[in-house]
Amino acid sequence: MEIQRISEADCLASITQSLIKKKEGFRHTWIAYTGWGKSVANSILCEYVSQLGSLTIVVDQKNKDCIYPGTQIVQARQMSEAKGTQVIIRGPASTKKASDIVYFDDLAADVWTIGQSTDTPVCLMPDELTDAATNNQEWKAPLLERVNSKGKIERYRDPWMDKLYRLGRTLGISVAACTQLVQEVPRSALAMCETLGIFRQESRELAYLTRLGYLDKSLASIVGKLEVGEFLFVKRGEGARVCKFSYDGT
Ligand SMILES: Nc1ncnc2c1ncn2[C@@H]1O[C@H](COP(=O)(O)OP(=O)(O)O)[C@@H](O)[C@H]1O
Ligand SMILES: [Mg+2]
Repeated sequence: MEIQRISEADCLASITQSLIKKKEGFRHTWIAYTGWGKSVANSILCEYVSQLGSLTIVVDQKNKDCIYPGTQIVQARQMSEAKGTQVIIRGPASTKKASDIVYFDDLAADVWTIGQSTDTPVCLMPDELTDAATNNQEWKAPLLERVNSKGKIERYRDPWMDKLYRLGRTLGISVAACTQLVQEVPRSALAMCETLGIFRQESRELAYLTRLGYLDKSLASIVGKLEVGEFLFVKRGEGARVCKFSYDGT
């Protein structure tokens, strides 16, 4: 099958279309095994979104050297003190302390508050989205209790990440995430993405993405042969195209 290509500029404009056209948030996920280019791509997207006037909040708590643009802060709970419009939360990547692992439910609540209280669009950019999830495809969030209509106590969770994904758009909140563990990402988060960037994947993940309807047999075979930095750009209602952002290693 002859696959079309899309330029970096057209791809970035397509990912952020709702932000450009309607000032509404967008949702995008990069899927790649480690070392295939998702952080590079997301950092280029970060710069682009920032130039469109969004506050960018990156969570990169794993990489020793951070390639995202912006001012680094150590802990998520210091976010309110962060200066500038490009914020990077480093957590254990900087402090090496497990107690600094970002609790995404709290962070997502803070992002909601920022989105609600300012006209400036906000983009949350987790470098690993499954840090926000259990290995059961659910968001990590506290277990709450309520009394149901039959007078019984009921336990439930009400994750802020879910609210960001479902309802954040109109508050100008975008989410652009990376993951190397696509099968652990909550299915609804993938389903709510207008766009995906899928780097080289092997048969297990290809079968999963095909089952979810993002790929067909011939696209899966293309994704199985991509080079480092190349990704299949998938947008609902449009034909998939291959893209590669330019990166000179700096
Ligand atoms: N678009 C690209 N063009 C050229 N090389 C790339 C590109 N994207 C990634 N690479 C190479 O792959 C390496 C790993 O990329 P990175 O984004 O850190 O991977 P990941 O986040 O998926 O682990 C980079 O250090 C770079 O050498
Ligand atoms: Mg990375």
